[in-house]
Amino acid sequence: MDKKELYLIAKEVLKNAYTPFSGFKVGAAILAKDGRIFKGVNVENSSFGGTICAERNACLNAITEGCKDFEMIAIATSEGFGWPCGMCRQFLYEFAPDVPVITGPDENHLQEKTIKELLPEGFRLEETFDYNKF
Ligand code: THU
Repeated sequence: MDKKELYLIAKEVLKNAYTPFSGFKVGAAILAKDGRIFKGVNVENSSFGGTICAERNACLNAITEGCKDFEMIAIATSEGFGWPCGMCRQFLYEFAPDVPVITGPDENHLQEKTIKELLPEGFRLEETFDYNKF
C-alpha cells in the first residue's frame, strides 16, 4: 500500500463525517504494520466540546482492535491540507511518534511529516517520569 492509496482511503471515508456545525469534513486512515487499515472521521456534537477529530477516531479504532504498531497515517479533508490539530498530535505521539503523516489537498500534492516533526519535544509520561516506582 503506498501513500496515494492510503490517502484515497481517507478521502473516501470523509463522506461519513458528521459535521452539521462546521461543514468541514475530515477522514483519516491508519495503515498498521500488519497490513490492517483503521479509519476514522470527525464526529461533531451539539455540545461542541464533545466533538472528536478523525485522527483520534482512527487511532481509537486501531487500539480497540488491539493494534498499536502503525506504519503510516493519511488524512484528507473536504478543503485543503489536513495537518492534525494539537490535541491529535499529542494523542498520536503516545503511539506513533516516528510514524509519517501524509496529507494534501488531493492525491497529487501530498506532503509528509512525522508526528515528532509536527510535535517537537512531545510529551510521553514513560519518557519523563518513572511511574513504575509506585
Ligand atoms: N478536525 C479534525 O477532524 N481533525 C483535525 O485535526 C482538525 C479538526 C475537525 C473537528 C471539527 O469537526 C472540524 O474539523 C472543525 O474544527
